[in-house]
Amino acid sequence: LISRAFRHQFIIPDFPDFTKYIEEFYWKCKTNTEGKVASYIPQLARMNPDYWGISVCTIDGQRFSIGDVNVPFTIQSCSKPLNYGIALEKLGQDIVHQYVGQEPSGCNFNELVLDHNKKPHNPMINAGAILVCALLKTLVKPEMSLAEKFDYVMNYFKRIAGGEYLGFNNAVFLSEREAADRNYALGFYMREHKCYPEKTNLKECMDFYFQCCSMEVTAESMSVMASTLANGGICPLTEEKVLKPDSVRDVLSLMHSCGMYDYSGQFAFKVGLPAKSGVCGGMLVVIPNVMGICSWSPPLDPLGNSCRGVQFCQELVQLFNFHPY
Ligand code: DON
Repeated sequence: LISRAFRHQFIIPDFPDFTKYIEEFYWKCKTNTEGKVASYIPQLARMNPDYWGISVCTIDGQRFSIGDVNVPFTIQSCSKPLNYGIALEKLGQDIVHQYVGQEPSGCNFNELVLDHNKKPHNPMINAGAILVCALLKTLVKPEMSLAEKFDYVMNYFKRIAGGEYLGFNNAVFLSEREAADRNYALGFYMREHKCYPEKTNLKECMDFYFQCCSMEVTAESMSVMASTLANGGICPLTEEKVLKPDSVRDVLSLMHSCGMYDYSGQFAFKVGLPAKSGVCGGMLVVIPNVMGICSWSPPLDPLGNSCRGVQFCQELVQLFNFHPY
């Protein structure tokens, strides 16, 4: 880092100047009081709607954070691209996509639908993510117990986050499992259509899905995850090669087309960046070969995306040239 600084070779040469604008967007979006905090479980319903934080981590490790960036929140659906990335890494694209498609569903994230081939549409919606959990549980190191698989994936997430904060919220996990009628319906519907690999234990696979959603991050640690994806799978802090560039390309492609639920098309049109949102208000935003960003604000719009997070991304691309087209 220091030698690059002396050579003026940073990807964002005048980082303090850049962060002045991030700060400006932060204050502007803070006044946005639209949206509603998720209420399907008490642990999320109690979330303070005023929480608001943005963290930035460039691919050469320059960092900037403002607001509530060290408060843990559950990763929820932002775990979906990570699990998909690990599945690609360990099984390869061909095997993973024998089981799950690449098309946007055009429906809500938890809609009870499969595609023409009776596969879940993509790994970024609930059905596809449950299926990816089944692949991770049943096909990746099948000898591992559920406990071992939990440790394995948690450790993997932690490496993607460069060793920064990663926790587990047991109360959220227990509540998710209690309030999961739709997810169970999806799970059984996919079993009816023989979507899973042989020997899948559906109960274990569902638990594993809820556990992945219940892992905790902070805006700071999730910005490092985003930056690892921006950097082709090499963590900018540890320089560890956590994911292969091919796996990262697939993850980003589907984040771009499917990461923002049924708003993905509009988001791709207006912002043009691969992103993934979660029901706790977190957003993982990737500017390939430049930086990773995490925004966190619990109030959600009717489609399930963080209101301030979406506004922040729009502000960002209005001023900077990050939209690829
Ligand atoms: O499966 C669920 O319902 C949640 N635990 C995770 C989904 C999620 O984050 C949806 N996001 N907007």
